[in-house]
Amino acid sequence: TQRTLVLLKPDAVRRGLTGEIISRIERKAGWQITALELRSLDHDTLEQHYGEHKGKPFYEPLMEFMASGPVVALIVEGERVIEGVRKLAGPTDPIAAEPGSIRGDFGVIVRENLIHASDSEESAEREVKIFFPGRA
Ligand code: GTP
Ligand code: MG
Repeated sequence: TQRTLVLLKPDAVRRGLTGEIISRIERKAGWQITALELRSLDHDTLEQHYGEHKGKPFYEPLMEFMASGPVVALIVEGERVIEGVRKLAGPTDPIAAEPGSIRGDFGVIVRENLIHASDSEESAEREVKIFFPGRA
């Protein structure tokens, strides 16, 4: 089985959507939440997490947004969970996301798209280490 690192972004916490999003993850048969924490992210943590985007035009606004309030960090484990949570989330841009997906149902603009989910096994292991070092 796989594990993936999920962040419910500050917009999800501010808008009171964390329960709804967590429910969608929990409803999926065979998936298990194995870590969950509400926390504020400092600049170092965010830089480790989103370092691949450094230098892109959206990087600084993204960092500012991600530090604008607490996030909920989770580890989710299960069969093909990496691909599965990305599918539940929908495409990065909410305008392109289908109704029924998290971003399609609740997303407004591309920067504030409610949820992060690891995009590969390699990213998942890297990101789990950043947010839950004890679980590496
Ligand atoms: P994450 O799960 O958050 O990593 O999203 P993703 O994998 O769907 O997208 P990506 O890693 O390419 O980008 C990371 C985050 O940067 C996105 O979730 C958006 O919040 C933001 N972002 C990506 N592309 C753009 C863009 O073109 N404009 C703006 N303003 N923000 C962007
Ligand atoms: Mg990404």
